[in-house]
Amino acid sequence: MPLNFAHRGSLTEAPENTLPAFQKALDRGVRAIELDVQLTKDNHLVVSHDHHFTRFNPAIQGTIKDYTLEAVRRIDVGSAFSQDFAGVSLPTLDEVLAICPETVLLNIEIKNIPVLYEGIERRLLETLEAHNRGNVMISSFDHVALKRIQTLNPAIDLGMLFYYRLLRPWDYAVSSGLRIRSLHPNQVYVDQTFVQACRQLGYEVYPFTVNDPARYQELVDAGVDGVFSNNPAIFGA
Ligand code: G3P
Ligand code: CA
Repeated sequence: MPLNFAHRGSLTEAPENTLPAFQKALDRGVRAIELDVQLTKDNHLVVSHDHHFTRFNPAIQGTIKDYTLEAVRRIDVGSAFSQDFAGVSLPTLDEVLAICPETVLLNIEIKNIPVLYEGIERRLLETLEAHNRGNVMISSFDHVALKRIQTLNPAIDLGMLFYYRLLRPWDYAVSSGLRIRSLHPNQVYVDQTFVQACRQLGYEVYPFTVNDPARYQELVDAGVDGVFSNNPAIFGA
């Protein structure tokens, strides 16, 4: 049975990467959730895909790194989705960990803004340790960030994200010297050859982001271990 990640929570039902979106995904009984983390000015991990607020609240200038957690909590990111979510703000990673049982695999993506977020890897591991959180993996398009994570905690599972098509990303993963659990490629170029090459090296494959049921079935037939999806119909598959 494929292990499908609810991408940014159940983002078709609630504002992405917010507590209501994660709660809805949990209510649907998902086995895995993906989220993105960023750092505030005072070094708190908050959950957001974007490093700015403009997609959800165009009135807010600057980036998350310009705001303290207290200020971030006052910023409404819910109204743009629906007035039902007016006043919803970006959650902290602590808050998400508090509602997310350990039976659900959490894939935490470090956004690839290493200059903005120096030290984010250590902060993330400290937070997971404080919650004594297992059943977690860390992914990033920034493979240097993955290397830092492995140096700090060699036991933690890593997912290597790829946006563009590379010739042999599985060989790249091997040559990186990182202990990678899985490759997370853009779904557009994944096929059976891709999956088999990864499988032979012991890597799992989780393409992103797959919302079309027909494409989902193609990828399952190609042998992927699961996908990242915004589509609740796929979550339960
Ligand atoms: O981790 C899979 C996917 O979330 C990566 O792309 O841009 O949605 O964070 P993005
Ligand atoms: Ca992501």
